[in-house]
Amino acid sequence: MEKTVIIALDMKGKEETFLFLDRFREEKPYVKIGMQLFYSEGPDIVREIKKRGHRVFLDLKLHDIPNTVEKATEALAELDIDMCSIHAAGGREMMGSAMRGFSSGPFGVPKVIAVTQLTSTGIRMLKEDLLINASMEDTVIHYAIAAKNAGLSGVVCSVWEAERIHRECGTDFLTVSPGIRFCDTETDDQKRVSSPIDGGKAGTDHIVVGRAVTKAEDPVKAYKRCIEEFEKGQRMKIRKGDE
Ligand code: C5P
Repeated sequence: MEKTVIIALDMKGKEETFLFLDRFREEKPYVKIGMQLFYSEGPDIVREIKKRGHRVFLDLKLHDIPNTVEKATEALAELDIDMCSIHAAGGREMMGSAMRGFSSGPFGVPKVIAVTQLTSTGIRMLKEDLLINASMEDTVIHYAIAAKNAGLSGVVCSVWEAERIHRECGTDFLTVSPGIRFCDTETDDQKRVSSPIDGGKAGTDHIVVGRAVTKAEDPVKAYKRCIEEFEKGQRMKIRKGDE
């Protein structure tokens, strides 16, 4: 399974986004377009970024009644996206409706992945705000199994959950992990953070990196550092597996 670093383009608009992408001369990073950029620029931002040769993960985290989600994914199926996110908390029927909507487009079904628990959710929030008494890990695994049964390609999860998800759902079930920080930087609002090396060691398939790259003094250098550390972690995992 290909393992990639995905850059989260959490930017205000097109101008800022293209200025950022123009800094990448040799490489065409896989990018994530989230709500901020999509809502401010509309679907054309996806078309333009695709035209520049990037793969696109459209992270809209859809969550509504099944019929509405099906209609929404029918509309999104007109865009040539590579990956899209929906909330597992919407339930199995909603996830099935999303898959039906996506299969109606001309580009083939993208990888659809489910958000389990946001990486900004800590254990206290799980218990006090959401009234969920199961552990974080059990909740995430429960959602991952439901997503797999609904025909999805994988889940968004923290690095710390990736290994168990692969054990329970198979190694071809994608794990996409945000909440990535270099060991020597701030964690911002993320509660369950990990480094690119941790991601590689845990065998997660893709790491999603936002501020650690976009706010870096030299984003291209930070991106390359991310790839190097992620690959280093993967090699450490392989060596450990060989012992
Ligand atoms: O800047 P930072 O690296 O924290 O950005 C993480 C990105 O990953 C954001 O775009 C955020 O919306 C997204 N994300 C997340 N946790 C999830 C799913 C997506 O942080 N569970």
